[in-house]
Amino acid sequence: MMLKGTYPLQRFEGLQTPFYYYDTRLLQDTLDAIKAELRDRPSWRMHYAVKANHNPVLLRQIAAAGFGADCVSGGEVQTALDAGFRASDIVFAGVGKADWEIDLGLEKGIGRFNVESSAELRVIAQLAAEKGVVAPVSLRVNPDIGAHTLAGITTGLAENKFGIYHGMVDDVAREALSLPSIRFCGLHFHIGSQILEMPDFAALCNRINELTDRLEKEGIPVSDINVGGGLGIEYEHPNHFPIADFAAYFGTYKRGLRGSRPVHFELGRAIIAPCGTLITRVLYVKEGLAKRFAIVDAGMNDLVRPAMYHAVHRIENLSSDGPELPYDVVGPCCESSDVFGKDVLLNECHRGDIIAIRSAGAYGQSMASQYNCRPLAPAYYSE
Ligand code: LLP
Repeated sequence: MMLKGTYPLQRFEGLQTPFYYYDTRLLQDTLDAIKAELRDRPSWRMHYAVKANHNPVLLRQIAAAGFGADCVSGGEVQTALDAGFRASDIVFAGVGKADWEIDLGLEKGIGRFNVESSAELRVIAQLAAEKGVVAPVSLRVNPDIGAHTLAGITTGLAENKFGIYHGMVDDVAREALSLPSIRFCGLHFHIGSQILEMPDFAALCNRINELTDRLEKEGIPVSDINVGGGLGIEYEHPNHFPIADFAAYFGTYKRGLRGSRPVHFELGRAIIAPCGTLITRVLYVKEGLAKRFAIVDAGMNDLVRPAMYHAVHRIENLSSDGPELPYDVVGPCCESSDVFGKDVLLNECHRGDIIAIRSAGAYGQSMASQYNCRPLAPAYYSE
């Protein structure tokens, strides 16, 4: 017998599918769990990674809990400001910041530019000098550390486009210190996403310790550290693990990082994935030669992760208690890759049954598109 999430099925019956459903109570419990872990480290700060989900209702709730925001575009900076994040609590990363985006950050007085190359550093210095302001800057380091995750979402290897190679960061830091319109504050890292193995984060701590020791010996002061995000969630067991293992995650950093510098975190997925579900309806059940298809009314344009990364999301038939049968759950888009799951065991499906695609709060709505001229799905909330 399959353990299912609990949802207000009657309310769902009256709504046009597909839509995203957010459990804002679970989001609050998650935010509270993070705050509890950080209570003994008052200088450590969480900056929610807006890219994971920029839905304004959720952003307002996260801002109200006192979190900062991690942004990767001018659009995200503006969205975060509109949702109530303080400018000084906004950090801005990205390998390709356009001049207008840098100008926006400078005009609003954001807390930090995470700079990814010396070419970018010089442009920020020039734009800040023109405005007569000083830009607070951290250097994003490529630590050349692999992470155990999906191939498409590692970021910390030397072959990835992100950050300044760790062996070259000394020169760029010296350059930053020499520029009067730049305040050099510290170092920024991020090794990848959906990481469940704590030794990966422990390896990052070792690299950070090595690097900060080396820079400080060379007379380059490192005031604070941003370790990025990347903590994964249990996609296959959302009912057993609704909240990510924050104790293990922060414990790894508490044990691993030397010194008493302020530490910034940029979690996205672990904060917002579990509270979101993509709700869809079975349009047709089709018997193929070797397969049984449940064709649903949500598509890869509403949740691209399975098609893009072969990511697994738990799928449940909320309307049926019938015998469990294997289905390929597919969407209506004109792409063979528009598949949410293959050989998924579901209670027997019928036209009109309501299907829950779980843990869709992160990189679901924020990566949605209108491919095939499909409308963007709306969102509803538990409270
Ligand atoms: N900080 C930086 C610099 C990042 O590049 C990312 C994610 C994060 C923080 C937040 O990572 P998180 O805590 O959410 O793992 N679309 C993919 C994930 C792409 C992640 C990109 N960077 C997916 O659906 O799995």
